[in-house]
Amino acid sequence: MAAIRLGDVAPNFTAESTEGTINFHDWLGDSWGILFSHPADYTPVCTTELGTVAKYKAEFDKRNVKVVALSVDGIDSHHGWINDINETQGTTVNFPIIADEDRKVSELYDMIHPNADSKLTVRSVFVIGADKKVKLTITYPASTGRNFDELLRVIDSLQLTAYHKVATPANWENGDDCVVVPAVATEDIPGIFPKGFKEVKPYLRMTPQPNLD
Ligand code: BEZ
Repeated sequence: MAAIRLGDVAPNFTAESTEGTINFHDWLGDSWGILFSHPADYTPVCTTELGTVAKYKAEFDKRNVKVVALSVDGIDSHHGWINDINETQGTTVNFPIIADEDRKVSELYDMIHPNADSKLTVRSVFVIGADKKVKLTITYPASTGRNFDELLRVIDSLQLTAYHKVATPANWENGDDCVVVPAVATEDIPGIFPKGFKEVKPYLRMTPQPNLD
């Protein structure tokens, strides 16, 4: 199993989920995607994470992102646990959870890290672009719940780069100035970024976030 690296095409698979059989690439269609694993059903941190993802659906939809979760538990377990998530987190789970009992997807995506746990998936995150290429990978340990605001922030950054030729500086938040990517020559900036730019250094050119009114 080769490591999955940024820029690779996200490996395709077919798997059972709480919303039926998923062929990953077909299911993604023209959307961006997040594939994320959790260690086990009926565990406290995972319960809060999946409830949070359900509550963020409008934010993911706004960004054209489809979300799918995964653990090595079975379908019946997932369905039972969804009832608990909905009850305790005050939400309705609105995305599929893959039942990877044979660990096919977990192994394909290297989600089991044997020195952390020999059987359970860690908290992996793969963000996949509309071109099916892997744009971001993050791995958290079982004991740390993910920050989904950070995931939205990164997706905003990735989409700015994909559609507007800007990168985002340290601690960037939506609305802050952006960095003009090095591939754009300084003489071409006025034609591409009509809001203006500031040349701090020849290699550091800042411009207002281009996709805001
Ligand atoms: C949890 O989701 O709470 C959890 C799962 C596995 C290990 C530790 C915590």
